[in-house]
Amino acid sequence: MTVQRKIASQRNWPDHGEFRIPGWVYTDPEVFTMEMERFHHGPTWNYVGLSCEIPDVGSWKRSSVGLKSVVMTRDKAGNIHVVENRCPHRGAPICWELQGKSTGLNCPYHQWRFNLRGDLIGVPFEKGFNSAGGMPEGFDKAANGLLKLRSEVRGGAVWATFSDEAPPFEEFVGADLLAALDRIAGRGEMRLLGTSRQIYKANWKMWIENARDNYHATLLHTFLTAFKLFRADLPPPELNIFGVHTTGKVYTRPEVLGDLEADAAQEMKSLRKDYKLHDWETVDTDRYDYEDGYNIGFQMFPSSMYQPHLNVPSFRHIVPLSVDEHEIRWTFFGFEDDDDELSERRLKQANMVGPAGFVTAEDGEVLVRSQPVITSSADRDQIIEMGLGGDQSLDTMITEKAIRAFYTGYRDIMGF
Ligand code: FES
Ligand SMILES: [Fe+2]
Repeated sequence: MTVQRKIASQRNWPDHGEFRIPGWVYTDPEVFTMEMERFHHGPTWNYVGLSCEIPDVGSWKRSSVGLKSVVMTRDKAGNIHVVENRCPHRGAPICWELQGKSTGLNCPYHQWRFNLRGDLIGVPFEKGFNSAGGMPEGFDKAANGLLKLRSEVRGGAVWATFSDEAPPFEEFVGADLLAALDRIAGRGEMRLLGTSRQIYKANWKMWIENARDNYHATLLHTFLTAFKLFRADLPPPELNIFGVHTTGKVYTRPEVLGDLEADAAQEMKSLRKDYKLHDWETVDTDRYDYEDGYNIGFQMFPSSMYQPHLNVPSFRHIVPLSVDEHEIRWTFFGFEDDDDELSERRLKQANMVGPAGFVTAEDGEVLVRSQPVITSSADRDQIIEMGLGGDQSLDTMITEKAIRAFYTGYRDIMGF
């Protein structure tokens, strides 16, 4: 991707830069403001939602690009638009509900009306009342509509940017990530299964790191190890790191997991062999979405992750709220040709992730407990050296190289 480099910050990255993360990237409000300007509100493409969430003419859904509220709509011709959820009159939000369906958008404050493309089409009392008041002669409605973002639909998802300087979408994401998106779209028309949202009192980048460090899953997530879903001696996820984006090819089929007595399993202290599931379909993967038997997940900088767990694909939207708070919005989906059995299985497996998920609840807990500790020691650094030992020619998931790659790209854009 190409993102224009701007002035360097006053902040100094620690010595051993590639292998250390300074505490202040999680705690400094000025750094956060700079991140929003250069990342989310800058020349990047951001996740907004799935096109199947607005299936009909007039469907709309409220979302976020960084700190800014946006709305995606479907117009009369079936085209999707993304507009800023900010009334050009006096700055009120137009859409207060999360989603809806209507013939246009009305601002609640003074009822300025916009069509589904964001054009201003009505101003109450535009001509005043009894020949007095009103807007001046020559007020140009055409020039005062909602701010329209550049948008693209790819992989069944809607992407948008506030920036005129952002490169074309294809160039921003690159060939590998495009292929991952097209793989999702190639599976068929999506069918929305559900959404969940949770606010975390932690810096937004912690999720980026969390999903780039695969081996924590073998140590923190007892559920995965107990039911043979993930293990440190599995083939590494074939991570493809390119700057601040990644894709990862993940095998989760039980038959490739082999013997639970393997050496790596002994490293997992929390592993219990006496756990039982009442419903094996919660973790069963005998039905595959792709004939080749693997899932490709990805992170698209700066705001989204696509992480298919078993039979439940989901987009994870990372919405920063402040330097120490963010919201995660999960959107779970299946495909139009799913039979009832598969739909139900996807819903069961959605219990893996989300606010109370068997797996991600632990991630969220760790991040939220880490933030105050990091805040109280913001002058201290974190260590990201895992993966530098042993035979460097061998591939392994016991590495933090993807986190190092993220911060290399991060520092380049931030100028640290
Ligand atoms: S602020 Fe929207 S109509 Fe006045
Ligand atoms: Fe995790």
